Amino acid sequence: MALDVVPVALGARSYEVRVGPGLIDRAGAEIAPLLARRRAAVVTDDAVAALHLPRLVAALEAEGITVATLSLPAGEATKGWPQFTRCVEWLLDQKIERRDIVIAFGGGVIGDLVGFAAAVLRRGVRFVQIPTTLLAQVDSSVGGKTGINTTQGKNLVGAFHQPSLVLADISVLNSLPRRDFLAGYGEVVKYGLLGDAAFFDWLEAAGPTLAIRSDDLQHAVRRSVEMKAGIVERDETEEGERALLNLGHTFCHALEKATGYSDRLLHGEGVAIGCALAFELSQRLGLCAQEAPSRVRAHLRSMGMKVDLADIPGDLPAAQDLLRLMGQDKKVVDGRLRFILARGIGSAFVAEDVPPDLVGRLLEDALARRR
Ligand code: GLY
Repeated sequence: MALDVVPVALGARSYEVRVGPGLIDRAGAEIAPLLARRRAAVVTDDAVAALHLPRLVAALEAEGITVATLSLPAGEATKGWPQFTRCVEWLLDQKIERRDIVIAFGGGVIGDLVGFAAAVLRRGVRFVQIPTTLLAQVDSSVGGKTGINTTQGKNLVGAFHQPSLVLADISVLNSLPRRDFLAGYGEVVKYGLLGDAAFFDWLEAAGPTLAIRSDDLQHAVRRSVEMKAGIVERDETEEGERALLNLGHTFCHALEKATGYSDRLLHGEGVAIGCALAFELSQRLGLCAQEAPSRVRAHLRSMGMKVDLADIPGDLPAAQDLLRLMGQDKKVVDGRLRFILARGIGSAFVAEDVPPDLVGRLLEDALARRR
């Protein structure tokens, strides 16, 4: 199958996202033209290393590239100061210089942490993203947001640092557990919902067999990346339009906090539930037809995904407490609740002043559906 190449045009910081099967096995040839000298540092996690690292190292060495590798523990807990310090000091020990390349090989945690390490190492070295989850391929590896979590919250320390290349090898998605695949799919659906109704129509038909049809999977990843690239090109540092990528995220962040960032709710699952709630909120505000939230929920259901608060196991806080958690979101500006709402499928916009009592009632109704 031919490779898709999606350019991200950002002047001197421009790069390509290459999407297709077998890219890990070709990584040496893809990356070699970027190298000033034939060496690279790869940072990954233990789960990805066990499955795919030998192939990546072999592909780089086949091009005469000397490879040093660091494997960090898998999981969100890695994305904090201790492993960040370890990563930066290891890169310094490897004598990675400003003209060298660091390779982030893993999901969102590795991409964000290694990207941030590359941003600050010697005041900035180039890095390549090789994302290994659907979520990282369609969202976090593209657009240059890097960072770590602190005790105060998620992603509160970081930098905009664009990669020099992204290699999205769709073959690795076969090894993802179904739940992780579907969590990443939550972000794919988000692109259709926020700005491309025809893509959502296509997902309604193609979504259920996406994981087993590699041509459809490649199309879904490419279209998602194209949409993200376009938004990032127009608004790299999130002064305006980039906020649309946060469709569903105000609800999601509150639900993630309420469930302790545990495996009761994966990020992509929270995004899917959040998108459904954002469409319901839009409909209650008279912005879109009743049909829109029903269609969103029907599609998520047909995928076997979590759709509503009723699908989250265990207790949830009361509506007012969830509302308070939303008030702590990074997207709150001057204490006003900022939501991404929609005039229909494919037509999202930023709403600055959504009445909190309306959101409270929406959450009360959603919590009542759990009983
Ligand atoms: N994941 C949202 C963004 O990159 O802006």
